[in-house]
Amino acid sequence: MEEKLARRRRRVLLIPAPAQGHITPIIQLAKALHFKGFSITIAQTKFNYLNPSKNLSDFQFVTIPESLQESDLKNLGPGRFMIKLAKECYVSFKDWLGQFLVKQQSINEEIVCVIYDEFMYFVEAAVKEFKLHNVILSTTSASAFVCRFVMFKLYAIDGLAHLKGSGGREEELVPELYPIRYKDLPTSVVAPVEISVELFNNTCYKGTASSIIINTVRCLEISSLEWLQRELAIPVYPIGPLHMVASASPTSLLEEDKSCIEWLNKQKSSSVVYISLGSFTMMETKEVLEMASGLVSSNQSFLWVIRPGSIRTSEMSEEELFRKMVTLERGCIVKWAPQKQVLAHSAVGAFWSHCGWNSTLESLGEGVPMICRPFMTDQKGNARYLECVWKVGIQVEGEIERGVVERAVKRLMVDEEGEEMKRRALILKEKLKVSVSAEGSSHKSLDDFIKTL
Ligand code: UDX
Repeated sequence: MEEKLARRRRRVLLIPAPAQGHITPIIQLAKALHFKGFSITIAQTKFNYLNPSKNLSDFQFVTIPESLQESDLKNLGPGRFMIKLAKECYVSFKDWLGQFLVKQQSINEEIVCVIYDEFMYFVEAAVKEFKLHNVILSTTSASAFVCRFVMFKLYAIDGLAHLKGSGGREEELVPELYPIRYKDLPTSVVAPVEISVELFNNTCYKGTASSIIINTVRCLEISSLEWLQRELAIPVYPIGPLHMVASASPTSLLEEDKSCIEWLNKQKSSSVVYISLGSFTMMETKEVLEMASGLVSSNQSFLWVIRPGSIRTSEMSEEELFRKMVTLERGCIVKWAPQKQVLAHSAVGAFWSHCGWNSTLESLGEGVPMICRPFMTDQKGNARYLECVWKVGIQVEGEIERGVVERAVKRLMVDEEGEEMKRRALILKEKLKVSVSAEGSSHKSLDDFIKTL
C-alpha cells in the first residue's frame, strides 16, 4: 500500500495537439503509463477539447489558456492555425505550468516527465525553463519524421525549387527515401509549402528533448527508425501501435454511430468495403458521386463514413447528396463510426482510406488490406509504404472516376491479387500482436522508456 502511494505521487503531464488523429494516440499512451502506476494530467487547449469520459475518470484534465476559434481554422488553414496556436500558447503555457508545478509540489507530487505532441512545440521552452524531463510524441510514422528532416535539408540547399517537384521530378524517387517520390513529400494542401516548411522547422527536433516516442513498430519501419536514431542521437522509442498497447478508450470528438455494427452483423464474411477519410479530409461533390457509382458497379457492399461538413457541396446540398446516397444499394452510411470495432468485424474485407497514420495502424492491426487514397501531409508517404513496402494496399492516384474506383475495389475484393494482399496483411497482424506482447519490441521499448523516468 505504501509503495503504491509512493508511486501515485509520480505524475506525467501530456499535451496533445487539438486534432482527433493526435488526441487518440496520446490518450492511449497515457493509459499505458497509468497502467504502469503513473498519475496522469492531460493539458488540452479549449479548441477541440475532449470531454473526459467515464473511462478516463482516473486522469486529471486541465485547460491551456488560448482564444482560438473554429473560424480561425477555416480562415487560416491547418498549417497557419498551428503556428498561431503555438504563438498564443507560448507565454500562457509557461505561466500555467509555473502555477501547476507549485500546486503539485504542495501536494507532494513530482512531475516526472512532460510528453508533448510534436506540433505543440511551444511546450519545449517552458519545460526547459523549469528543467523538467521533456519527451516528444510523434503521432505520425517514423518514415514521415525522416521525410520531414530530408525535406528540410533539401529546402536548405535550394529553397522551394527542390521541394515542389516541378516538371518530371515529382515522379522521381527522393534519394535514400525509397519508396517516397518528390510528390509524396509532406508538402501539401494543408498549407502553402512555405508554411509547411516553417511548421516543420519548428516541429523537427531541435536538440533539447530527452527522447522521442513514436507510435510505430520496429518490424514495420526498422530502417527509418535506425536512420532517426543515428541522426537524432537521443533515444527513440517505437511504442506502437498504441491502440494495441493500451486498451480502447472513448476518445472520439464526434459521437460514434454504433448502428453500423448491427448492419455489419448481417453481411457475409469479408464482403464489405469500409470507407473513411479520417477526421479532416474534405471531398468535392463530383468525387463523392463518382466514388458512389464505382462502388455500386463493383457489386460489393460498403460502409461509408461521411463526416458532417466533409463534402464541398456545389450542385446539391449536403443533405440532398446524403439522401441520394442512402438510397444506394448495398450501402450503409454513417456520420462517424466506431472505427476500431468496424475494422475488427469479420464482414469487413477492405478499407478505403485517406491513410492517416492511426487508420493505417488500425487496419494493419486487424489484417485488413487497403485501398489508399491519400490527400495530404504524411498520408501520401503512408500510402506508398502500404503499396510498395508492406504490399497490403493499392493506391488510387489521379482523378477519381467511377471506372477507376470499380477496378480498384475489384482488384482487392475479387481478384487473386487481393487474396495475396489479405494473406500478407494477416501475417503483419500477427507480427504486430507479437510486438505488443510481453516479449515484443514495443512492450520492451515502453519498459525501457519507463526506466528513464
Ligand atoms: C491526421 C492526419 O490526417 C494524419 O495523416 C496524421 O497521421 C494524424 O492526423 P486524421 O485525418 O484524423 O489524422 O486520420 P487518422 O490518423 O487516421 O485518425 C483518425 C482517427 O479517427 C482514427 O483513430 C480512427 O479510428 C478515428 N475514426 C475515424 C473513428 O473513430 N471513426 C470514424 O468514423 C473515422
